[in-house]
Amino acid sequence: MHTPVITGTGVFTPDNTISNAELVTAFNAYADKFNAEHAAAIEAGDMDAKPHSSEDFIFKASGIESRYVINKSGILDPDVMHPLLRQRGDDEPSLMAEMGLDAALKALKAAGKSADDVGAVICAASNMERAYPAVAIEIQQLLGVQGFAFDMNVACSSATFGIQAAADMVKSGSIKSALVVNPEICSAHLEWRDRDCHFIFGDVATATFIEREEDAAGSHFKIKSTRCATDFSNNIRNNNGFLRRSRPDGVADRRDMQFMQNGRKVFKEVLPLVSAHIAEHMGDENVQATDLKRLWLHQANKSMNDFIGKKVLGHNPEPGEQPNILQDYANTSSAGSIIAFSKYSDDFENGDIGLICSFGAGYSVGSVIVERCD
Ligand code: COA
Repeated sequence: MHTPVITGTGVFTPDNTISNAELVTAFNAYADKFNAEHAAAIEAGDMDAKPHSSEDFIFKASGIESRYVINKSGILDPDVMHPLLRQRGDDEPSLMAEMGLDAALKALKAAGKSADDVGAVICAASNMERAYPAVAIEIQQLLGVQGFAFDMNVACSSATFGIQAAADMVKSGSIKSALVVNPEICSAHLEWRDRDCHFIFGDVATATFIEREEDAAGSHFKIKSTRCATDFSNNIRNNNGFLRRSRPDGVADRRDMQFMQNGRKVFKEVLPLVSAHIAEHMGDENVQATDLKRLWLHQANKSMNDFIGKKVLGHNPEPGEQPNILQDYANTSSAGSIIAFSKYSDDFENGDIGLICSFGAGYSVGSVIVERCD
């Protein structure tokens, strides 16, 4: 048996940002246009008018101030309201592979390793831009990695589930190392025309390099323990898929082809699920709240993180005990906790312990207890 360790992480951040002010201006222009076009039906009571969105609501409800996106112009055009991404040829890298490659190269550089040192690539994300071939295999080819690669999808929990899969394979000896890559183009499955959720997501890619402790080139995070759990729920759902063409209304612009959620129910049901999951995981590993220097939580909502932080640590988290990046990135699905880990782990000293946790659709929750080793 080998000890799996994290020796490097990388984050690809797109160039474009959208502030809440820009987002709300675009949404309100779209709503005004919609209401003008449907004035008669709204007047007759056959259709509801679209109410305005508000910056104040977005910040108070979520803590989000801005988000990064691959394409800004389409999202902010009241006549379009989704990203505009060019069709790539089959002989050029796909967008997810390109984003993932950038993050993967950064993770390898941080680990002091090259493609020759990688045994497997897992592309773990909440959406794949095509059915096959696997995006992971494309990333493997772009990197020049031997071995094997596969895609996996556990929505917002994909990164921690991917880390568990990689860590278990390293531990058993079936691979020497793995890159877990999380390219998230959330802007393409978000419904920007729905004010209940139009502020939630952003785009990003993260990567985590996991290898045997004896191969680590320098200080690293030992993966002490991982735990994954799922419990079926329809409260976060997207019905898009390969059966679409076969259904009576085919490829029609249907609301359920994009992200849908019962936000209140998610809030109410996921919080106890995650808090209990972490408490049980820590209990079984004999890790006390006082042993934890930091929580790197999934980045969906500030109030949710405050609640989980308090429940796990037993007090309101001090600055630094539970860093949030969602104010700048919004919810980036599986990548969120890894961005937080990547940006806020350099100050760890030998023996310091932290916990990475992601959670979301499924429902799904994954936690990883790590210890800094110098
Ligand atoms: N601007 C202004 N008002 C808005 C609005 C907007 N953009 N969006 C919704 N509202 C209104 C609602 O219509 C509602 O009005 P009503 O009281 O007259 O019905 C009111 O604000 C409250 O809406 P609600 O959806 O209940 O807000 P909330 O406090 O529950 O916050 C979420 C919404 C989505 C931020 C919150 O529920 C949440 O974070 N849930 C968990 C999300 C999550 O983690 N999802 C995982 C995704 S992977």
